[in-house]
Amino acid sequence: MSGKDVSETVALRTPAKINLRLRILGLRADGYHELITWMQQVSLYDEVRIEPGGKRILVYTDRTDVPGGRENIVHRAARALREASGRDALGARIYLKKNIPAGAGLGGGSGNAAGALWALNRAWRLGMRKAELSEVAARVGSDVPFFLGGPAAVCRGRGERVETKEALRSGWFLLVKPPVVLSTHEVYGWSRAKLGGEGRDFDETSGLVRLGKYEYGNDLQKIVFPKFPRLESLCEELLRQGAVRAMMSGSGSTIFGFFRRKGEAERAAIRIRKSEKGENCECFLTTPLQETWYSKKN
Ligand code: C5P
Repeated sequence: MSGKDVSETVALRTPAKINLRLRILGLRADGYHELITWMQQVSLYDEVRIEPGGKRILVYTDRTDVPGGRENIVHRAARALREASGRDALGARIYLKKNIPAGAGLGGGSGNAAGALWALNRAWRLGMRKAELSEVAARVGSDVPFFLGGPAAVCRGRGERVETKEALRSGWFLLVKPPVVLSTHEVYGWSRAKLGGEGRDFDETSGLVRLGKYEYGNDLQKIVFPKFPRLESLCEELLRQGAVRAMMSGSGSTIFGFFRRKGEAERAAIRIRKSEKGENCECFLTTPLQETWYSKKN
């Protein structure tokens, strides 16, 4: 993401993420899942424009499947920041141009929320440090702090404890989003029912768990694939089309394939779009980001 100031208006682009590893360690007393996950931001962006002023927070989106107003996570982020600042008369108009699909496991909304926190901290001249912003971000959503860190990190706890990690230097990710919208809350609910049934509770020693250097995979696939076999078959199709690795991102429904060369990924995208398995899927060819979205102009 890169930030640009035009008088008071702040315009920026917030990226999508993929989970290269998502390991569930157990259930916590607060009902959340204890996780360890390796995430990488990729070159698919939404646009966020912020016009500070007035006394109200107003959020507009350009898509009917992404609500504006108070229901949008960006509204929650702006309210949380205003509350943390103790200045209740702050307002802004926030416009979201969505390119990242929703209900896709790509963190589009979380990235928008992080972008709004970062931009409003400047536009409202709050002078909050990154650690303070990250605390506010964690209250807004488990993945939001990652977008204030990154572009790659290992995240623990609910996902809000972010340890920045070196970004992948090369390669191409082909993201394939089938016409299936999955709610994170619902997917974790299915997981909770299963884990609860097996009595697999979170144990404090899980905090010591480390990931292997290149450990890939997503534990939520076990929950989601039996309910949506099409997602598993898209993984198989990506592998058949030459992906080195293929898996689901976050709580789904996006499936991504990793390719070493752009040409291979482009060919796979064309074949998948034409195939029966790829019917009505959106495909995005992306690269891993090397820099945080706000690092260019700060
Ligand atoms: O934190 P966030 O609001 O993004 O989480 C959405 C939902 O996903 C939560 O309501 C919770 O049910 C589930 N969740 C979870 N464990 C996590 C993260 C999210 O159970 N580590």
